Amino acid sequence: MCAINPDLARRSIKEHAAHIEANILKLVPNADGMEDQVIDAMQYALAAGGKRLRPFLVMTTSALFAVDQGYASRVAAAVECVHTYSLIHDDLPSMDDDDMRRGQPSVHKKFDEATAILAGDGLLTLAFEIMADVKTHIDPKIRCELMSSLAMAIGARGMVGGQMIDLKAEKQSLNQNEITRMQHMKTGALIVFSCEAGAILANVDGNRREALRGYAQNVGLAFQIIDDLLDVEGNSEDIGKTTGKDIEAGKATLRSLMGPKRAREYAEGLIEQAANCLQIFDKKADVLRSLAAFVLDRAH
Ligand code: IPE
Ligand code: IPE
Ligand code: MG
Ligand code: MG
Ligand code: MG
Repeated sequence: MCAINPDLARRSIKEHAAHIEANILKLVPNADGMEDQVIDAMQYALAAGGKRLRPFLVMTTSALFAVDQGYASRVAAAVECVHTYSLIHDDLPSMDDDDMRRGQPSVHKKFDEATAILAGDGLLTLAFEIMADVKTHIDPKIRCELMSSLAMAIGARGMVGGQMIDLKAEKQSLNQNEITRMQHMKTGALIVFSCEAGAILANVDGNRREALRGYAQNVGLAFQIIDDLLDVEGNSEDIGKTTGKDIEAGKATLRSLMGPKRAREYAEGLIEQAANCLQIFDKKADVLRSLAAFVLDRAH
């Protein structure tokens, strides 16, 4: 039964979070000179907490293939830098205009808008600096593959493109396929990379890598559906963000298209499919099975 119990992942995510956080903060350069403010803002955003779900996926998929934990931790840190950058920019007045993030003032509120833009740029760049370092993997081919896969996941054909569609869709209605494509791009692609990272680090191709991709695509879409549901049904204190923003902005979501009940059922179906994708793995993938259930069950 433990395979479908969200509590296994919930506990495990919590156990990993402090270690992941300490590790990331060590990789941020020290503030020294007139550029201090951007480094302070990067540290502020990273230290604010958050579920650390994507680094957890990197660590868990790496463990499936017995990847060196030091390597996996660095990729996990890089992924969290990218994710945190995306949140800083997502909150900017010209994007979602959100004043609260991870339970505290957004970076542009705490500092200012220009600093928030630069802190995002700094974190994105830091991610690639971390991955390019030999400490991330002895084999340069693997480091290159990590960097090109991440770049494709978060560029104009991935997260950045998805964010563009998200903003354009405030003024234009999208059908189910279009919304699904947008969600896969803006949220799914980085989650897919986080799951594939273990296979890349282990130089594993073929069925097992495909299985992880399938799992992550389903989890990624379900994750955004639940995020959209929580924006309406969630408690601002629990989720650490202002609620009700999506309806106010006229965001295109599966919730707004299908209604909350059908959207949740759809997410449930995706989570079932995610678990099915893991059949190729033995009990070692139970944490990933549990994590799929956690995504559905989460209140933040
Ligand atoms: C929020 O992601 C942005 C989305 C892609 C929905 P998370 O819900 O993982 O945010 P943190 O990292 O826990 O703050
Ligand atoms: C953000 O989606 C996706 C990103 C790539 C950052 P949302 O705009 O729904 O995320 P929240 O609700 O602000 O965290
Ligand atoms: Mg957004
Ligand atoms: Mg937002
Ligand atoms: Mg949201």
